[in-house]
Amino acid sequence: MNGNDSEHIAGILLSCGAIPSVSPEESDLVVINTCAVREKSEEKLYSLLGRLNSIQKKSEKKFTVGVVGCVAQLQRAKLLEKMPQIDFILGPDNYSQIPEILSKHLEEKVISTKWRKDWQEIPSEQTLRTSKVSAFVTIMEGCNNFCTYCIVPYTRGREKCRPTPQILDEVRDLAQKNYKEIQLLGQNVNSYVDPETQMGFVDLLRKVNTIEGIDWIRFITSHPKIFSPDIATAMKESERVCHQLHLPVQSGSTSVLHRMNRGYTREEYRQIIKNLRSLMPDISLSTDIIVGYPGESNKEFQETMSLLEEIQYTNIFSFRYSPRPLTKAENFKDDVPFVVKKERLIAVQDLQKNIQIKTNQSLVGSTIKVLCTGRSKKDPNIFSGRNAGYQVINFSAKKDVKDQFVNVLITSCGPYSLRGHTL
Ligand code: 5AD
Ligand code: SF4
Repeated sequence: MNGNDSEHIAGILLSCGAIPSVSPEESDLVVINTCAVREKSEEKLYSLLGRLNSIQKKSEKKFTVGVVGCVAQLQRAKLLEKMPQIDFILGPDNYSQIPEILSKHLEEKVISTKWRKDWQEIPSEQTLRTSKVSAFVTIMEGCNNFCTYCIVPYTRGREKCRPTPQILDEVRDLAQKNYKEIQLLGQNVNSYVDPETQMGFVDLLRKVNTIEGIDWIRFITSHPKIFSPDIATAMKESERVCHQLHLPVQSGSTSVLHRMNRGYTREEYRQIIKNLRSLMPDISLSTDIIVGYPGESNKEFQETMSLLEEIQYTNIFSFRYSPRPLTKAENFKDDVPFVVKKERLIAVQDLQKNIQIKTNQSLVGSTIKVLCTGRSKKDPNIFSGRNAGYQVINFSAKKDVKDQFVNVLITSCGPYSLRGHTL
């Protein structure tokens, strides 16, 4: 979602006449889009502000600085304390003010973090997409779930859904521009409801599936609490929807899930996976894991390990728990010692690494359809892309295949990527 916001912000800046530059030293304007989801991402922002401060001091020319996004929404005072010369601060619902702010030549600081209740359409042409073939399409924003560890409901506000006709128009427009893959985007895509017709996510997915020209459709992120069997059926029956799903479990322990306010049990999660696999045996699954949540005992942690062992995800994103402001868990005792959190994270990542080595090795010798989206900076003959299962494939090709579908023979692999060559 943040990546997509950055594409919108860059597009808005271009429409104001800005041109991209390579470094702050050469820039008149620096806009930092921020993420507040974990402590580490926020810390990265403060170190970047420190760097910008020292560049400002050294350089003769002053550049304008805007901090936008989720940290901007919550930490106005702290940001100004760290870098008093920040010129504007905008929350995730306020990017559209950028042209107005810039046109007023920044006579005074602008701080704007008011949430909007209804969907606010950003014109598609105001998006500077990083890829020419793969695009994000936002369908909803915000979250009503209030998982106890999570800052998102406090930074992005409540759920707002984009009207279906606008979503379909954008996908049709992308198809016309030769885009091949789209990812429907939202904090909680399964709770999508068209504000006009009350049509839900399953119908939206089926409608998007009818649009000619798009070959691969994905959606992110789904919530296990509301992942009904009809979504799995719609995935199976929609030929353009990839057999790939990111379904964050967070923990394999029902008691931890309860303390996290996730709204499902280990057993219910296992049932969802069982149903998905029975409908689509080739489905590629990924998840998010938090280790060291307040009160997580070794027994509870082992339940996460055994779930990973059982499900055999293609990929996982794993994090050490960090308390976030305003959340319920901020008031819980953060009682798992830092070293234990670290050990648990290493244990999870080691286990998963071995799983991925095994699953990746099983693909060596096969030929896989890959959408090529990039090229290695070091070696222009090495390309990179993803398969339908969203695995990273690095491969050699005799001609330029960027932005195309290719068939790649897989010849070797590591835990995090597959390697091969075009046929
Ligand atoms: N600490 C650690 N990880 C977190 N996440 C969200 N909040 C926290 C937190 N306070 C993780 C969850 C979520 C992913 C985007 O970030 O796993 O799914
Ligand atoms: Fe955060 Fe939970 Fe909402 Fe996901 S569902 S954004 S983890 S509160």
